[in-house]
Amino acid sequence: MDTQTTDRLQKSFKLLAPRGEELVDRFYAHLFAENPTLRPMFPKNMGDQKRKLLASLAFVIQNITQPESLMKPLKGLGAIHAEFGTQAEHYPVVRDTLVGVMTEMAGEAWSEQLTEDWNEAIDLVSSVMLEGAKEHAAAHAS
Ligand code: HEM
Repeated sequence: MDTQTTDRLQKSFKLLAPRGEELVDRFYAHLFAENPTLRPMFPKNMGDQKRKLLASLAFVIQNITQPESLMKPLKGLGAIHAEFGTQAEHYPVVRDTLVGVMTEMAGEAWSEQLTEDWNEAIDLVSSVMLEGAKEHAAAHAS
């Protein structure tokens, strides 16, 4: 990922971060309305979950210029997601929902380029998380 891309990711996140609570509210509202089968995987009260997702997004974007620093934490996050029952095919659903909500919220400030950038970033995160899930499964196979 080049510095122009990481710049655009950081700037666009900075724009949306003051509305972070709205971002995660809208994200889960869309996710569950469009994919009702995912709802039972999550706790009834989503307060903590919303805060954790927002914090993990902020962490990724803050460190996106040093992707090697993200490897260990994201592999760990992927391993616990395997325990939550998360499947590989869920990741693009989460990506498209998140990028869709950011597009809606940013309005005029959004662009096709930003959609591409965010898809690339989330695909990167997802691939590391899935790698972590695979390693976790291999380590616990008996
Ligand atoms: C971009 C990728 C993702 C990120 C950054 C992310 C982030 C997080 C974080 C930070 C947590 C809290 C973990 C903890 O409590 O320590 C979490 C929990 C969870 N995530 Fe994700 N997630 C991602 C993708 C997904 C996908 C694709 C699914 C599938 C539906 C999913 C389902 C869940 C579930 C079920 C929980 C646990 C809720 C609970 O019982 O507390 N996540 N996620």
